[in-house]
Amino acid sequence: MRIAVLNGPNLNLLGQREPELYGRATLAEIEAMVRAAASPLQVEIEWFQTNHEGALVDAVQALRGRVDGAVINAAALTHTSLALRDALLAVRLPFVEVHLSNIFAREPERRHSLIADLAVGVVAGFGAESYRLALQALVGRLHASPA
Ligand code: DQA
Repeated sequence: MRIAVLNGPNLNLLGQREPELYGRATLAEIEAMVRAAASPLQVEIEWFQTNHEGALVDAVQALRGRVDGAVINAAALTHTSLALRDALLAVRLPFVEVHLSNIFAREPERRHSLIADLAVGVVAGFGAESYRLALQALVGRLHASPA
C-alpha cells in the first residue's frame, strides 16, 4: 500500500513557527515519525511539502493511479482553496484531512474547511500525533474497503 502525505504552506517552518500552537517538532521529525509508523503496517510513504497552491494542485492531480490514499494538511489552503477542492474532486482518492491544531477552536476563518466534506475523516488538535493517527485510520479504512 502506498500513501502520500501532502503538506501545504508554511509547514516547512514547523519547529520555529508559533510553537505554542503547532508544537516544537520539525516537519522532518514528523516525517520520520510517520515513516516509522508506516513501516510495520507495510505502507510506503510519499512525502511532499509546498508553499504554493498550484504545486499542491499538481501534487493532488499526480496522485491518481500512483497511491492508494493520502493524508493532507493543506494548512491555510484548507480554508481558502477551491482549486484544491476541485483537484480532490477530480482525483476522487480517499484521504484524511489532518491539522496539528484544533482548527475548530481557533479564529472563525479557520473553523471552516473547503475539503473536509470530501475526506474520509478529519484529525485535528493532537499536534504531530495527528499525522500518525490519520495514517493509521486511513490504512484501517483502506484495508476494510479498498478504493
Ligand atoms: C494548520 C491549521 C491552519 O489553519 C494553518 O493555516 C496552518 C496549520 C494546522 O496544522 O493546524 O498552517 O493546518
